[in-house]
Amino acid sequence: LARAATTDSEQYIAQDDITGKDIIAVEWVTSHRAGDRTLTKGYPDGPVYLVIEKDGSLANYGINAICTHMGCVVPWVPEEDKFMCPCHGSQYDNRGQVVQGPAPLSLALQHVDVVNGKVAISPWLETDFRDGEVPWWAE
Ligand code: FES
Repeated sequence: LARAATTDSEQYIAQDDITGKDIIAVEWVTSHRAGDRTLTKGYPDGPVYLVIEKDGSLANYGINAICTHMGCVVPWVPEEDKFMCPCHGSQYDNRGQVVQGPAPLSLALQHVDVVNGKVAISPWLETDFRDGEVPWWAE
């Protein structure tokens, strides 16, 4: 999977995938329901899903949308509570952990923070909280 590795210090303001505007955290949280996963752009390693937790808050992690099989952008399918790749059928759970191949690996994580009111995305280089492993994308 050929993707440019980012360094730890990089932080990118997330933009609305449709309008292209910077995402204001308060507005995002009020306009998205608990459980939502919504694509954003602005991060150089590919589009990132912002996650709204069950309590309605913005999750402190984002999920990279690039399928670990051959790089398709994986849609979120709320009816199935999964990310389901249309290209060859890989499936990932609602945190991006792979549950069905051919994808060999889970979707990459990113950090999500609020900086001056805006949503900012940066590399996730520490342990993958989903499986306790060293993240493959940080190697
Ligand atoms: Fe996603 Fe092949 S690119 S399953």
